[in-house]
This record gives sequence, structure tokens and C-alpha cells, in this order.
Amino acid sequence: MVKKNSDILKWFADAGVSDISIDLGSAVKRKNVKTSINTLAELKEAMEKVEISIKNCALNMVFGVGNEHAEILLLGEAPGAEEDRQGIPFVGQSGQLLDKILASVGLDRTKVYITNILPWRPPGNRTPTLQEITQFRPYVIKHISLVNPKIVVCLGGTATKALLQTTQTMTQLRGKWTKIEELTAIILPTFHPAYLLRSPSQKREAWIDFLTIKNKADTL
Ligand code: URA
Repeated sequence: MVKKNSDILKWFADAGVSDISIDLGSAVKRKNVKTSINTLAELKEAMEKVEISIKNCALNMVFGVGNEHAEILLLGEAPGAEEDRQGIPFVGQSGQLLDKILASVGLDRTKVYITNILPWRPPGNRTPTLQEITQFRPYVIKHISLVNPKIVVCLGGTATKALLQTTQTMTQLRGKWTKIEELTAIILPTFHPAYLLRSPSQKREAWIDFLTIKNKADTL
């Protein structure tokens, strides 16, 4: 019987091998972040060493912020100009809207953890490429696993598609709970605050999503 990649990876992991590369044709894709990483500080140190061209254009690596034991983790796309300057996620205009949405359901940055798919600002605020997302997804999974939230909120299409590895649209996914094999948390995709700044009529839907998230967190 032909074994699936996931079975083979599990076999290696059970045998104590922690860092495996699988040749997928032209690209060699790293499937695991070292299992010897046990803390957020260790993860940050490992991420700082990642070789990726976008970091050459960025001022700072933007890691994560908030409550490291939070039940709710918010996952954005990538830092913008202000986040790049300050080294903190969601501190620009969309961050200010995010703070207002959190406050409207009784939450704030001391009660949630916030990070992004990419820790460096892509040049000119372009959307992260599939290659960048593929390279960083294992670090995102590790990051979420270390915080160990009950709920992951994907902010916008890029974070949603990257985490869920789906091509479904936000219209199909928004406001619906889902799960992935690699995480114990339940996942809710909602709109990105930057989209809400451009389309304020959707703010009500986002507010409903955050009410749902808060109520779910209170009952889990
Ligand atoms: N947009 C994001 O997706 N993340 C940030 O940190 C800032 C803006």
C-alpha cells in the first residue's frame, strides 16, 4: 500500500526525527518547524533566522502581541507600514478599527493574542505570494500551537486561505466554524479590518462574528 505523506511524516516523528524536507518536484518544501521549539521566544529566534527576500525590505520583524495564554487568537495577513515601523501587529488604521470591534464585544489586547501569516511587510503592501505563505505556514501552525487558544479568528481572505489551505471564497467561509487537522482550536473566518474600512456596510456582519466568537469563548 502507498503511504500518504502525513503517515510517512508521523513515522519519522515517532522515530525521533524532528526536521524533515520532502522533495516535491522543483521545490524542496520544509514541512515541519523543529519540535525542539517549545516557547514563543524560541520560535521568534527561529523566525528571525528564516531566509526570505521580503525581510530585506522591512524595518522590523513583527511577531505577535497580546495575552500569550489567550483563548482567542486573531490571525492577520502581514504587517503594513506602521506595523513595520513599530514592530507590533495591527497598530495602523486597520488596527485601530480592530481595537474598536474588540471593545464593542468586551474584549481588548490583554484578552486576545494577535499575529499574522507573514512577520515581515511585503514591499509596497502587496499580497503575500503562495510561495511565501507556503514557507511560513509551518511557523504559523507552531505559533498558534504554542499559544494554544480555543478559538482562531482568521482576519480576511489571505489568512483564511493560508490556514485552511482552501480556494473557497470569503463569501463561502465567513462566519462559519471550521477545523484543521494540525490544530485543536476551532476556527472562524471573518472580514479583515482593512476591508471593513473600504466597505463599512459590512461592519455589522463583522460585529456579529465577534459577538459569536465572544459567546463561544465564554461557553468553551
Ligand atoms: N494588516 C494585517 O493583516 N496585519 C497587520 O498587522 C496590519 C495590517
